[in-house]
Amino acid sequence: MVLPYFGYARQDRKDKPRVSIAAKLIANLLTASGADRLMTIDLHAGQIQGFFDFPVDNLEAISIFVPYVESLKLENLLIASPDVGGAARVRNFAKFLNADMVICDKYRKRANEIASMQVIGDVEGANVVLFDDMIDTGGTLCKAAEIILEKGAKSVRAVCTHALMSGKAYENIENSALEELIVTDSMPLRHESKKIKVISVAPLFAKAIGRIRDHESVSSLFLNNQ
Ligand code: R5P
Repeated sequence: MVLPYFGYARQDRKDKPRVSIAAKLIANLLTASGADRLMTIDLHAGQIQGFFDFPVDNLEAISIFVPYVESLKLENLLIASPDVGGAARVRNFAKFLNADMVICDKYRKRANEIASMQVIGDVEGANVVLFDDMIDTGGTLCKAAEIILEKGAKSVRAVCTHALMSGKAYENIENSALEELIVTDSMPLRHESKKIKVISVAPLFAKAIGRIRDHESVSSLFLNNQ
């Protein structure tokens, strides 16, 4: 089964009492529906693969994002994680771009609302690229862009795999400090926007499907293995 966006992935743990682990429910539903192998991309948390008792191929969009960011030829490039949870993902991205990274410390009191955010690291004079697995309302990336610019960065862009774009996301992005938002087509975008650039993941999925058909390595598609 090919599922470019795995819904409910953020409900993957019991981080407070009385919340459901809905990602496990989705895994059970897919299994009950007859799936026996899953191909997806940039799961919110890699451990979701353990919710399945069959093989999961979790492809990585950095293999298409890295060449795009390189093509921008940005001087003094700095990669930023919009929250602490994304630090490992962002460190990997920064490694392939030979850039340093900073982290934003985001605190939410309730879902989809940011109570506070601060940047850990020096962004002065840098051209910053934020990297996240998904944009939902846009609150996280817009807030991070605003704070990073306030701290003296020269420019801020954002790269992110899944564009949920719910609520006022389009408006938020248009009015934000972000110069550009680069997303994939893991789900269709409802509107066009001058600030949003879409890079297709279809060729990556096609390659991976071909490799499975031909009994070849899928992990060789990952930048870490090239
Ligand atoms: C959080 O853990 C995710 O990686 C995203 O940062 C978050 O889901 C984005 O949501 P929003 O765009 O509504 O701030």
